[in-house]
Amino acid sequence: PAPGWRVTADVVVVGSGVAGLTVALRCHAAGLRSVIVTKARLTDGSTRWAQGGIAAALGEGDTPAQHRADTLTAGAGLCDDAAVTAMVTEGPGAVRRLIAEGARFDTAGDGTIALTREGGHHRRRIAHAGGDATGAEISRALLAAVRAARIETIENALALDLLKDAAGHAAGVTLHVMGEGRHDGVGAVHAPSVVLATGGMGQIFSATTNPAVSTGDGVALALRAGAEVSDLEFVQFHPTVLFLGPGAEGQQPLISEAVRGEGAHLVDADGVRFMTGQHELGELAPRDIVAKGIMRRMRERGTDHMYLDGRHFGAAMWERRFPTILAACRAHGIDPVTATIPIAPAAHYASGGVRTDLHGHTTVPGLYACGETACTGVHGANRLASNSLLEGLVFAERIAARIAATTPPGTAPAPVPAPRTHPPVRLLPPEARGTIQRVMTEGAGVLRDAAGLAAAARALDALAGDPADTDRKPAEPGADTWETANLHLVARVLVAAAERRTETRGCHWREDFPDRDDARWRRHLVLALRPGGD
Ligand code: SIN
Repeated sequence: PAPGWRVTADVVVVGSGVAGLTVALRCHAAGLRSVIVTKARLTDGSTRWAQGGIAAALGEGDTPAQHRADTLTAGAGLCDDAAVTAMVTEGPGAVRRLIAEGARFDTAGDGTIALTREGGHHRRRIAHAGGDATGAEISRALLAAVRAARIETIENALALDLLKDAAGHAAGVTLHVMGEGRHDGVGAVHAPSVVLATGGMGQIFSATTNPAVSTGDGVALALRAGAEVSDLEFVQFHPTVLFLGPGAEGQQPLISEAVRGEGAHLVDADGVRFMTGQHELGELAPRDIVAKGIMRRMRERGTDHMYLDGRHFGAAMWERRFPTILAACRAHGIDPVTATIPIAPAAHYASGGVRTDLHGHTTVPGLYACGETACTGVHGANRLASNSLLEGLVFAERIAARIAATTPPGTAPAPVPAPRTHPPVRLLPPEARGTIQRVMTEGAGVLRDAAGLAAAARALDALAGDPADTDRKPAEPGADTWETANLHLVARVLVAAAERRTETRGCHWREDFPDRDDARWRRHLVLALRPGGD
């Protein structure tokens, strides 16, 4: 669709979580005119749902080197060491700048930042806010700073496609905006630097901790723009998500790893602690190992959930330390003070994404990716708990510094040819969303094998239909049909990656290839669409 309105900026940031807001703030501070566009309201992304916290070597005796070691171990041989080193080294400073910006973290009795533990960390390293509402506090502080800086924001704006100049350099994005006054309908923000920070893609699965807006839009846009993606097969399933019944769909309440970090136990229906002896860190092993431990016990017991036991915390500690989780459990009729909490793994985090270098550049010049949308290499095959907010923060600062250094304020975007979607997007009806989620949950969920993945690929291809079938009426353009097309595209590429990786590593668990195969697979799967769109 041809844009009906146009805004010009130095940088357009797509997404309003920790990554997007930080890029915009740092670019603004460098004198660049930044515009933030976001698909729903500014607060609607994943950041505000983050519970446990943000990991950084802030505690006495902790060092970036120790944080690096834990990150590399969790990543199961696939982390990019330079990216990890940048994140853990710059992390403490980035968190302090966040505090200077107004974020209020919980403190210990002596006034120092209170630190908790989560899976895969050998020590207390996770800063938290409001007990278990860290993301909400970070989001609040960053949004206040964005408002104070008067950075232009456009809400209800679904990014459609990248605009490129004749040389293939990014030149802005087209947007579908609904009900935002002067920016209503299809329009464009023209800018020589475009930053994708749209969060994750958890909505490709039936049950996820992600909000409804996490539909892989940035990854899909980047794929359509010709960018490379990497590591998409590594979807992290959070081990402890409140189990609300076998048919529960959509966003599910998270029970933070910090609950285990503070001493809660994983138990089966008989109260037996089944993680003991499986890993030196027991219930605080890296997330993939705990999720597998839970799945194995569920299979042995022929059941669909296990339990988390934090009754020994007592009411006062639950109320002070985990008020959000306590309220979510009670809202569903479970009182963690007196009862064990039913839990099961659910889709949580895309460790892969749009491939970037250490400065957030994608393989398309002028196009950057940040946060969960990106694959910087820090997560490898399995993200270490609470490294996601940190990655968003650190790489946002790196991206802003790079844009400021290379594209001074007022650099006009090159004129663009008439915008078009390339390859043409086949919009899908919103009803297809449920089918995609079922197909992905059955064929590409926690446990995978060749037959299940092939069935998922066939079902997704059938949903897309035959491109040569001109009789098929395309779905009407709209936010929901674009979202469904995005979900479909990222799901299909994820399945292609999962089919190819014939080993088990990190959070990619192939039942037909149960071992890690370093000889063949200590490498990344980098994929891109061919010009024809395959
Ligand atoms: C949690 O609080 O358990 C989630 C933290 C994370 O995903 O890093």
